[in-house]
Amino acid sequence: MQNNVEKIIIFDTTLRDGEQAPGASLNQKEKLDIALALEKLGVDAIEAGFPISSPGDFAAVKLIAGQVKRPAICALARAIPRDIDAAFSAVKPAKHPRIHVFLATSKIHMRYKLKKAEGEILRLAAKAVKYARNVCDDIEFSPEDASRTERQFLYRVIEAVIAAGAKTVNIPDTVGYAEPYEFGSLIRSIRENVPNVHKAVISVHCHNDLGLAVANSLAAVKNGARQVECTINGIGERAGNASLEEIVMGLKVRRDSFSGLKTSVRTEGIYNTSRLVSKLTGFAIAPNKAIVGSNAFRHEAGIHQDGVLKKRSTYEIILPEDVGFKVEGLVLGKHSGRHAFKERLKKLGYKLKEKEIDGVFKEFKLLADKKKEVFDDDLMSLVQEKAEGSVPSVWRLDTFTVTSGNRIKPSAKIKLTLKGKAFETEASGDGPVDACYKAIEKIIRHTYRLLDYSIRSVTRGEDALGEVNLRLDMGGKEISGRSSSTDIVEASIKAYIQALNKIAHLK
Ligand code: KIV
Ligand code: ZN
Repeated sequence: MQNNVEKIIIFDTTLRDGEQAPGASLNQKEKLDIALALEKLGVDAIEAGFPISSPGDFAAVKLIAGQVKRPAICALARAIPRDIDAAFSAVKPAKHPRIHVFLATSKIHMRYKLKKAEGEILRLAAKAVKYARNVCDDIEFSPEDASRTERQFLYRVIEAVIAAGAKTVNIPDTVGYAEPYEFGSLIRSIRENVPNVHKAVISVHCHNDLGLAVANSLAAVKNGARQVECTINGIGERAGNASLEEIVMGLKVRRDSFSGLKTSVRTEGIYNTSRLVSKLTGFAIAPNKAIVGSNAFRHEAGIHQDGVLKKRSTYEIILPEDVGFKVEGLVLGKHSGRHAFKERLKKLGYKLKEKEIDGVFKEFKLLADKKKEVFDDDLMSLVQEKAEGSVPSVWRLDTFTVTSGNRIKPSAKIKLTLKGKAFETEASGDGPVDACYKAIEKIIRHTYRLLDYSIRSVTRGEDALGEVNLRLDMGGKEISGRSSSTDIVEASIKAYIQALNKIAHLK
């Protein structure tokens, strides 16, 4: 019998720090879908956003707080009353609301960014936590850039915020500078030097600038941290955050080394959650990404294949099914009925209304006519595309024709409709997609800079769906568009139109 099982709290910040990744801008419906998937995955806390940063962020946090019941819903705030007020009014509807207050404590941040001395920082930190505690019971405090903060000062700040009522103290390696031995010993030293440390949970939040975010987090756990902040697929500012799937599987697979520690994550849900986040953010997962990459469980070398056939554990330390990994689950074909379709969507974690199911089912039938086999990933693309319906389609594609070849200048003829009114034009370009985009620009009489364009095959085979993700520059704001089709030119046009509809909606 195991008596001393201690829980590692999994605090997911995909929707806050993850969403800060350049190019990852999610709409409210997408954020809610991710939050519901995280709830199902079993995370303990969801950092849903930074409400003061924009009205959209505020609304998304509030929406999530109202609908996601089991985990704590957390909102980020600087150590100032108006941030804290905004954070609280956004998380108030939650069953377990939390406010996360942060203030930088390293010399470099205090001197150059905040232009404040130690004494003032100490006072502001404690004051902000006290202020937040007046409205919300569950307060987390982060001394930003903690790993580069002078130790004695860090101890004083931590002691002061705990005395002011912080229940969790999060130690961020904000710039991903620490290395595992050092970071582990920082956590240990905090536990040994802060007199009231036992009154709070010590959390860690590691960035991946040197590729050490997961290693640093696990070193911290070994030294007494009991909350880990992480994101699905490791997305986040710059090189990202510690990846949730790697932390959780690290603790599980190496339970010999992390004995007596467990998380509440249902690991079989990892793969679908990872795919959902990838699709919604438009960030592809590298094939060699640990745990969720498409090659993570593939054995190429003959010796390895032979070994695995003889005994799986010769080369596999994780069972693919433990993380819900599927090579390409064949799901449905053109004869599949609505009931099977609905059940499959449910299994993939989607909660759709009957009317929404009808819409996606129609698209599925069209796709199944073009494609022999429809896989889970195809279905996820369809659902996401339909979910974009939360942005009203003022622009729609009616028809297009492209001419391309190695001896002719590619050209495109496109007909779009704007609120039912048709516009048709032709243009030529460097390639068929460029020609289409030039034709669209003629119609809308505006040129948006294309910041990024990528195309990938959703599954394998000649009839696979091609998924296009792009980002347009709208006066400094990045607007993303995504679409999929068995025709990559059509997917490219529709992705552009989706971005245009988002722009129209914003305007
Ligand atoms: O990286 C960081 O320091 C942060 C804080 C707000 C916790 O994201
Ligand atoms: Zn961060």
